[in-house]
Amino acid sequence: MQLAKYPINSMRAFPTAFPVEVEAKAMRKWLAELTNVSLPASRVDNLAVSLSAVRKVYVTGAGEFEALRGIDLQIERGVFAAVVGKSGSGKSTLINMITGIDRPTSGEVWVAGTPVHALTENQIAVWRGRTVGVVFQFFQLLPTLTALENVMLPMDFCDMFAPSERAERALSLLELVDIKDQADKLPANLSGGQQQRVAIARSLANDPPLLVADEPTGNLDNKTALSIIELFVRLAQAGKTIIMVTHDQELVMRAGRKITVAEGLIVPEEGERR
Ligand SMILES: Nc1ncnc2c1ncn2[C@@H]1O[C@H](COP(=O)(O)OP(=O)(O)OP(=O)(O)O)[C@@H](O)[C@H]1O
Ligand SMILES: [Mg+2]
Repeated sequence: MQLAKYPINSMRAFPTAFPVEVEAKAMRKWLAELTNVSLPASRVDNLAVSLSAVRKVYVTGAGEFEALRGIDLQIERGVFAAVVGKSGSGKSTLINMITGIDRPTSGEVWVAGTPVHALTENQIAVWRGRTVGVVFQFFQLLPTLTALENVMLPMDFCDMFAPSERAERALSLLELVDIKDQADKLPANLSGGQQQRVAIARSLANDPPLLVADEPTGNLDNKTALSIIELFVRLAQAGKTIIMVTHDQELVMRAGRKITVAEGLIVPEEGERR
């Protein structure tokens, strides 16, 4: 790993791998631990995602709240799925189950044959870094790293690709999202749409089969949102499985499948029996 060059404090914000609560001092120890983590063998599974009886109960001062109330959901590989539903219906909670950012209270979450619900925190960090690209509404780039360094970070973190190849690979990913000319800029000097392109390039760094995005166009103007949508459509055509929470009708229309969440449950699609 080539982590020494990264400012360790700012790495706390790195969304696809680091639990926020890990303190800087504990982080180096934790990173060293991760190099020894092994993942369980995955089962043969044609599905990208398979959830069964997933419940998520949040415990707050006001009592318990059941945000997911028994989700059964199967998503085939190569599908571009849009997740829709009212605010508070449980969309983010649902996709946080799929990325392993949060854990179910009960039920099973399988992603490409890996039992995510059964992994330890360290296994989840390593598994996610290799398998899932995550894109957020507010980009969540590391502010002290250039666009290029942000895209290289997952490769360094997961020790994927030869160290000598990483910069070139990051540059080609920036080219893929039409932003190669901004490679040396810090996030603060990029527009929202440009930052989201960098975040998408970062999500592709380790060539994950699955991309998960939570309202990736939610913080962009219409025209910029459209260009980001085009980018996801291109990635879907290239064979990625994409699961995206969105309120954007344009995006829903372009998706191959619409998954509607209401009050912690999936609403059956038309013509589908429960
Ligand atoms: N950490 C938490 N603690 C307690 N309750 C939570 C927590 N996170 C979410 N909730 C509750 O769970 C429900 C579902 O939240 P979630 O964030 O999944 O909704 P959402 O569909 O993504 O909404 P939005 O469209 O506004 O992003 C909401 O009622 C929310 O208040
Ligand atoms: Mg949400």
